[in-house]
Amino acid sequence: MHQIAVLPGDGIGPEITREAVKVLKAAGEKHQLGLVFSHHLVGGALLDAQGVALSDELIENCRRNDAVLFGAVGGPKWDHLDMQNRADHALIRLRKELSVYANLRQFRLYAALEDASAVKTDLIAGGVDFIILRELSSGAYYGQPKFREDTPRGRRAVDTIEYFDFQVERLARYGFELARQRRGKLTSMSKWNALESSRLWRDVVEEVAREYPDVDTRHEIVDAGAMNLIRRPTEYDVIVMPNMFGDILGDEAAVLAGSIGMVPSAEISLDSTSLYEPIHGSANDIEGKNVANPLAMILSAALLLRYSLNCPAGADDIDRAVGKVIEGGYRTADIWKPADQQRVSTTEMGDLVVEMLSE
Ligand code: IPM
Ligand code: MG
Repeated sequence: MHQIAVLPGDGIGPEITREAVKVLKAAGEKHQLGLVFSHHLVGGALLDAQGVALSDELIENCRRNDAVLFGAVGGPKWDHLDMQNRADHALIRLRKELSVYANLRQFRLYAALEDASAVKTDLIAGGVDFIILRELSSGAYYGQPKFREDTPRGRRAVDTIEYFDFQVERLARYGFELARQRRGKLTSMSKWNALESSRLWRDVVEEVAREYPDVDTRHEIVDAGAMNLIRRPTEYDVIVMPNMFGDILGDEAAVLAGSIGMVPSAEISLDSTSLYEPIHGSANDIEGKNVANPLAMILSAALLLRYSLNCPAGADDIDRAVGKVIEGGYRTADIWKPADQQRVSTTEMGDLVVEMLSE
């Protein structure tokens, strides 16, 4: 038996999560995984119900489960709240509470989606298939001091970018292991020409690289890297980078996958429960319209089977089913072009993936 905590959250979170659970149930039955789901409020939904975006009880619940399926949090309704109480801060805190350290973001462009990408076809022909491994336990999100104050010179705000060598080392090691199983290339992106923390980052990646002579290791300064990612996307395999750069470049890279609605992620815990969530947010503007693309969430469920439930066959099944649906010409609004493609809703997309699973 495997227990999965489902945290749909806000905006389109509940709609896409529903589809992912549907797909997981079907895959679970096929592979006899005995999946048991429990649903919990988080973020704005929990703020409205209990006045907090994340509760100790919810954290405990997540810890007790084998994996957490996370939708999205936040929305304009809770934007006025200060940092600690914001709906999306629940996610930042939950990552910390679950000792999450590596965010594996999978960028893959299905051949049939080439025309959906905002990037010129000649740049992406040849296939986009890389992973951004974003550091998730430290960096600008968590470094102390972090505060706002009034001073005689005006209001002042401070965030701190902090890295310990062991935080970089464990992420780099994970990246090298991944690269070994893939095409044997690792690119480290940081800002070592301006930031001390990035200098340490580069040094540590270089040290770990010595243990992986079979992996082709490169270092790029992140601003140039951001450009090269669009100019030469097919050259990347595994890219490791600090927390904030990974957040930014993740959304940038999503255009290479056709839509941010296509990019799943795993947030791997050191010693507790891992989280699985799409890299996009709550998209409150399309909430409740049944038009959101559930595939990033569904593909995140595949990662859950792969990394938390040790069921690679189930993960492959879901990946294959999604591929078939895309090849079949079915598109949600974000990837739809009025050619010969069929536009489908969130629920129809989920149903199609379930249907293909049993084929
Ligand atoms: C992400 C999101 C979060 C982040 C927000 C919601 C705090 O943008 O997962 O990429 O910045 O990490
Ligand atoms: Mg983000």
